[in-house]
Amino acid sequence: MTRKELEQLYQEAEYHSNLYYNQDAPEISDFEYDALMRRIQEAEQEHPEWVTAASPTQRVGGAATKAGELGKVTHLVPLLSLQDVFSLEEVYNWWDGQPLSVEPKIDGLSAAVTYEDGVLTLGATRGDGHVGENVTENLRRVAGIPARLNPCPWLPEHYTLAVRCEVVMPVEAFQRVNAELELEGKKTFANPRNAAAGSLRLKDASVTGERGLLAVAFQILYVQGFEDVEEAHRPSLLQSRDLKLLGELGFQPVNSLPAASKEEIGAAIRRIDETRYDLSYWLDGAVAKIDDRAVQTTLGATAKFPRWAVAYKYPPEQKSTTITRIYTQVGRTGRVTPVAEFTPIQLAGTTVTRATLHNPEFMESLGGVCVGATVLCRKAAEIIPEILQVLSRPEDGEPFAITGCPECGTPVVKSREGNGAYCPNINCPAQFARHLAFFASRDVMDIDGLGPKRVNQLIEAGLLHQIGDIYRLKEHREALLALPKSGEKSVENLLNGIEASKDRPLARVIKALGISGIGSHVGEALEARYPDMDTIRGLSVEEMTVIDGVGPISAQGLYDFFRSQDGSRLVDDLAACGVNMTSRTYGQARPAGALEGQTVVITGTLPSMSRKEAESLIKAHGGKVSSSVSKKTGLVLAGEAAGSKLDKANQLGIRVISEAELLALLDNN
Ligand code: IVH
Repeated sequence: MTRKELEQLYQEAEYHSNLYYNQDAPEISDFEYDALMRRIQEAEQEHPEWVTAASPTQRVGGAATKAGELGKVTHLVPLLSLQDVFSLEEVYNWWDGQPLSVEPKIDGLSAAVTYEDGVLTLGATRGDGHVGENVTENLRRVAGIPARLNPCPWLPEHYTLAVRCEVVMPVEAFQRVNAELELEGKKTFANPRNAAAGSLRLKDASVTGERGLLAVAFQILYVQGFEDVEEAHRPSLLQSRDLKLLGELGFQPVNSLPAASKEEIGAAIRRIDETRYDLSYWLDGAVAKIDDRAVQTTLGATAKFPRWAVAYKYPPEQKSTTITRIYTQVGRTGRVTPVAEFTPIQLAGTTVTRATLHNPEFMESLGGVCVGATVLCRKAAEIIPEILQVLSRPEDGEPFAITGCPECGTPVVKSREGNGAYCPNINCPAQFARHLAFFASRDVMDIDGLGPKRVNQLIEAGLLHQIGDIYRLKEHREALLALPKSGEKSVENLLNGIEASKDRPLARVIKALGISGIGSHVGEALEARYPDMDTIRGLSVEEMTVIDGVGPISAQGLYDFFRSQDGSRLVDDLAACGVNMTSRTYGQARPAGALEGQTVVITGTLPSMSRKEAESLIKAHGGKVSSSVSKKTGLVLAGEAAGSKLDKANQLGIRVISEAELLALLDNN
């Protein structure tokens, strides 16, 4: 490796570390990140002279705070991280023969909680190890963090105790939280660890309380006032005893397996791996710690890691299985996705029976997939099953190819970009769900609580047959309450959101009709120019074409829509339901300029104007500037050395003018 390559790896690590620690949104798995760090460490061992302060090996990951959010807390004892190893051999090399406490390495985020005379007074995240965020109120709402410690008889009257624990979101809570977020149309979490991190650092601690977090205690960080306590109950003598004391005080301590030989160390690590998926939360390895805390203190730490412990990381599980069926699904966007079903396998604690094959390109990259093929699977980010490789195929196996839409049978087409497989049929039943979800989405009618999942649920429950049914849902309150994941509060929320949406500006209502090519821009232009929906419905194609952004094709589409049975019914129905049909910006339209409704493309160097000046001049006269020539282009303004755009304009028969001609045109108007 060259020095330059190492610096590139620094940058890569920096990028992923930021996503992981500060955004709670990693793009690669922990295992891949560890592998990256490993490459850096190996290169640095070979070339210690290359190591600079910019190296991620010189820092503890994670920034303390996102600007302007939770308060900062400086830790009395730094919360160090652990040296990772990936083989038993490395554990044995590290071990110096002293008795160990071998523990599960819990995959969450670290927090420190401080108790004064038995009362929780401060709770903080690890942050960069030295300075964390004050999340006391949030931690009060986490199971496993007692607000008051049990009044054990051996406790002194006055004392301070700081404990380090790992905050996790149990897998079940993770699935529930993600399902709820999805119902509300919000962004879901990539994995339980990110979910725990995101949920602990919320500004509203009561929301943290709803997230079902759990804290597992694994270390006594700091004690004061225990000097006179009898030895059997004195903290900080043995790690294994500390864990027992923590249990007595009301924490949920991590399990500790004693080990005093290589065999015992190996057996303990294997044992933890075997029981890995029996727990309600994730583990990502085992930690081997020297049990004697006085020895720990003597050994001390490097800038980042204690010398008295190592973390053995388990590799992600991979298994092979045989494909039994391949089928397709059509999504909200009309995209047709192939899915492989296979003989059930156990992966990362759950039974997995299918995985997406994404698109024709993905199947091709696997060299073709067919029923009977043996494939290698793993769980990406340990949650989503993924096919990594085709190991073998039956001799007569025909590679699976997507033909038609599974809903309506229409032959699929590629996307505009030339990939994927899409159903082009606008009357496809899957598209009703699509239109509903679009209608309710944030930038359109903005109906709180009506995300795509909820839309599908309501369609399946037979509560939505046409768009206007949304506004009749309030007549079906009982049926709504009977649906899964649909309590009083969420139904109330949904119905309020629906009522509120009746008041959206006319431009939004126009956009919500879902007419191809008619978005916010056209909606706003129409609203500014006409008093109400009735007037707009009556416009001729010519009248519509004058509007900025409406070409002849969209104008025809708009015209046809208002005259079609489905279109006019939809508008009538929405109006009858009380949806706003009146303009609030009528009369605010600028007088039509010479270039009103025209799209102009500028190419080449103009004799006297800069491109920017030409753009503002065109816009000031009602025109729109676009960067590429298409059938929609009204004019091409060409200067010196105009290239392919000019050729294209000529090919399409679009009018080409010079700067002088443009100025004359604007003058005459
Ligand atoms: S001991 C100073 N024990 O793993 C040594 N850490 O990769 C402190 N972790 O930041 C670590 N389970 O958040 C220890 N049984 C366990 C653990 C554990 C999970 C986390 C901890 C630490 C990270 C290091």
